[in-house]
Amino acid sequence: MEKIIEKIVSLCKRRGFIFQSSEIYGGFSAVYDYGPLGIELKNNISQLWWKEMTQVHENIVGIDSGILMHPKIWEASGHVGAFNDPLVDCKKCKSRYRADEFSEEYSSLNWEEVQCPKCGTTGSLTSPRQFNLMFKTHVGPLQESGTEAFLRPETAQGIYVNYQLVQGSMRMKVPFGIAQIGKAFRNEIIARNFIFRTREFEQMEMQYFVKPGADDESLDFWKERRLKFYLDQLGISHKKLRFHQHNENELAHYAKEAWDIEYDFPFGWSEIEGIHNRTDYDLSQHQEFSGKNLSYFDQKNNDRFLPYIIETSAGLNRMLLTTIADAYWEDEKNNRTVMKFHPKIAPIKAVVCPLLKKDGLPEKARQIVNLLKPHFKVTYDQQGSIGKRYYRQDEAGTPFCITIDHKSLKDNTITLRYRDTMKQERISIDQLLQHIKENI
Ligand code: GLY
Repeated sequence: MEKIIEKIVSLCKRRGFIFQSSEIYGGFSAVYDYGPLGIELKNNISQLWWKEMTQVHENIVGIDSGILMHPKIWEASGHVGAFNDPLVDCKKCKSRYRADEFSEEYSSLNWEEVQCPKCGTTGSLTSPRQFNLMFKTHVGPLQESGTEAFLRPETAQGIYVNYQLVQGSMRMKVPFGIAQIGKAFRNEIIARNFIFRTREFEQMEMQYFVKPGADDESLDFWKERRLKFYLDQLGISHKKLRFHQHNENELAHYAKEAWDIEYDFPFGWSEIEGIHNRTDYDLSQHQEFSGKNLSYFDQKNNDRFLPYIIETSAGLNRMLLTTIADAYWEDEKNNRTVMKFHPKIAPIKAVVCPLLKKDGLPEKARQIVNLLKPHFKVTYDQQGSIGKRYYRQDEAGTPFCITIDHKSLKDNTITLRYRDTMKQERISIDQLLQHIKENI
């Protein structure tokens, strides 16, 4: 039986959600391109996140910092020294692994006794060596020392180094947050599970600046708030979400306490978002490396301190994969595959179909497209039998199908079909826009 994840990959290609990068050249490992429906879905998700952060919370503002930044930032942040994965090579078949794939306690393994999973040889694996995950590049025409820069491995640092400029220009008072959506890059040893782990990805990070001592309470607040986002905004099933707390071995070099929100993917429970207490680690490092005083002055209490930071760090691509995995439904009774997206995030909200390609039905259908398209994404389809058209839209996750027939010309009504129940009802065109708006 074809695995669910393979079926999802195939549907994503067939319906224009996600394509393998550079396909005509044989593909480029672990990079994916978003097709017409994929980008709509991605935009819908990121807009919901942006709204949740910067509109619902009045004390959070946005920023868009550069992918390339001063290289000293990555020394200060600890990424030059500590952002490593343990790498193991097979000397015989040249396969490459992360040492922690063999055991969480990989440093106590005797590698002479470990078998290469690919070629089966025992004793052919090298001892683990640390491999830095940052991509290096050169700024300017000369490739010499002093021109070296990094593609950012997280958007968070762009927030920290701008925190005083944001605070001063917007007159923010602690507690306040700064949100950012943008690309980040990690030279992963093993990229896998479709778009789950890729070398180029998009982060949605919010850094919340609090008074030291208020950090534990803030972490609890954001844990609850972020879980609620998946449930209420994205419509993800509660039973497929859980928290996982990082143990001592898992904690990143900057974290005092860290929690993952995990989703039960077809390939197992995996992290989709991290909520971390980063303490004043980052600001004190930047203070030391830049020589600038980065403390915050609390005028009301005549108090000066370096804020603690609670971070919520989500991968947009992982969030998108979560919505796809959660929406995927094989409706065996009706012999169809349906993407049951929450209507809020569905790439296309409605399709308009003339029952026949003649008798003035296409013209009437076009009028309806024109009525709806200023309000939400709508598409027109006159190709093939009406059943085939409905099933195509079920796979695209379109919640509403609108069909125009001869009766529509006489009484100004249409048939509205609902994606999940396949229920159909006749409604007046005058009520159509309002009806759909109320249901998306
Ligand atoms: N900013 C935290 C992370 O990228 O994982």
